[in-house]
Amino acid sequence: MKNIKDLDIKGKKLLIRVDFNVPLDEQRNITDDIRIRGVLPTINHALDENAKIIIISHMGRPKGERKMEFSLAPAAKRLSRLLGKEVKLAADCVGPEAKAAVDAMQPGDVLLLENLRFHPEEQQNDEGFASQLAGLCDIYINDAFAVAHRAHASVVGVTNFVDQCAAGFLLQKEMDYFHRSVSDPMRPLVAIVGGAKVSSKLGALRNLMDRVDKMIIGGAMANTFLKSMGYDMGKSKVEDELLDTALELISKAKRLGVKLYLPVDFVVADKFEARAETKQVPMQEVPADWMVLDIGPATTMLFAEALENAKTIIWNGPMGAFEMDAYSRGTMAMVQHLARSHALTIVGGGDTDVAVHRAGESNNISYISTGGGAFLMLMEGKKLPGVEALEAKE
Ligand code: 3PG
Repeated sequence: MKNIKDLDIKGKKLLIRVDFNVPLDEQRNITDDIRIRGVLPTINHALDENAKIIIISHMGRPKGERKMEFSLAPAAKRLSRLLGKEVKLAADCVGPEAKAAVDAMQPGDVLLLENLRFHPEEQQNDEGFASQLAGLCDIYINDAFAVAHRAHASVVGVTNFVDQCAAGFLLQKEMDYFHRSVSDPMRPLVAIVGGAKVSSKLGALRNLMDRVDKMIIGGAMANTFLKSMGYDMGKSKVEDELLDTALELISKAKRLGVKLYLPVDFVVADKFEARAETKQVPMQEVPADWMVLDIGPATTMLFAEALENAKTIIWNGPMGAFEMDAYSRGTMAMVQHLARSHALTIVGGGDTDVAVHRAGESNNISYISTGGGAFLMLMEGKKLPGVEALEAKE
């Protein structure tokens, strides 16, 4: 995959696909701008080269309709503040408005085009739409790791209509870190997989099992594993239809010599509420009418010991219902273990990044991915269509 540094972009019209699908509050203020900050190196490099910088992105899921609550206006404002220069927002990403805005650009200008998903053709990877986007530029740069798992027109189709295509620095960095953590890691490699459902992480669990030295499983998905081993999980979330699959994974770990760690104690509550009655219990003693909402202190110690000699740690998914303070200790403790570790630590997807930011430890993690679904797809051992499209240009 070529990267932006391999191309002569001086004075050229660059179409840069980014992922500005950032979280907003009710007043439409951006609550986390990591995805915008993430592409600043690429944009700054293009500015240094006096290119005309045309930025395209989606925001949310407007289902092909022009719904202004999905406008990229907040992102244009934030980018402008971060760059310290004006960023114009064109009312459309294709058609006469986009063309007029691009025609009016001077070298060193930054223009953001309105939400790609206002057009249904974007998600259909429609050729006509892709060629219209391509018609706006000389060079296409993909710096949108977080949407690289979607075969959409601005991610895949467009590369068929632009001669020179390359990755931006963020996409390149994401792929490099992933490679260092899973494809060619320093060992021991430990994966920590958490979150609510085995079903949504099955592909990742299966693929990682073939690659890691140790696997730590936490969050509600651990309940399914423990139930498959015969433990009573009370009213806890369990995917009964996956009990056999959990057993298969346990025996696969044994067969491969992968050390598998499951919780040994829990914080349980009588309801799924922040103010519910809670207590700590060993895994053998989950009361029939209570539910597991976090890992307990003995588990935290066990997981910490398992991480002790790790050289690489990859983490996806929280250890409990950490959005409620009463059940956040296990996840927060895990963040601290990673932050203090000397291993290469990579965190991505499934709200794990939120936990790291909330704990104030972002600077002590080697790399926090900007991707959710894209990161999970890599964990599943699959290729990202956006990356494949760039590789095909080689
Ligand atoms: C994300 O937030 O994961 C990306 O922006 C992709 O969004 P999507 O799931 O709506 O395609």
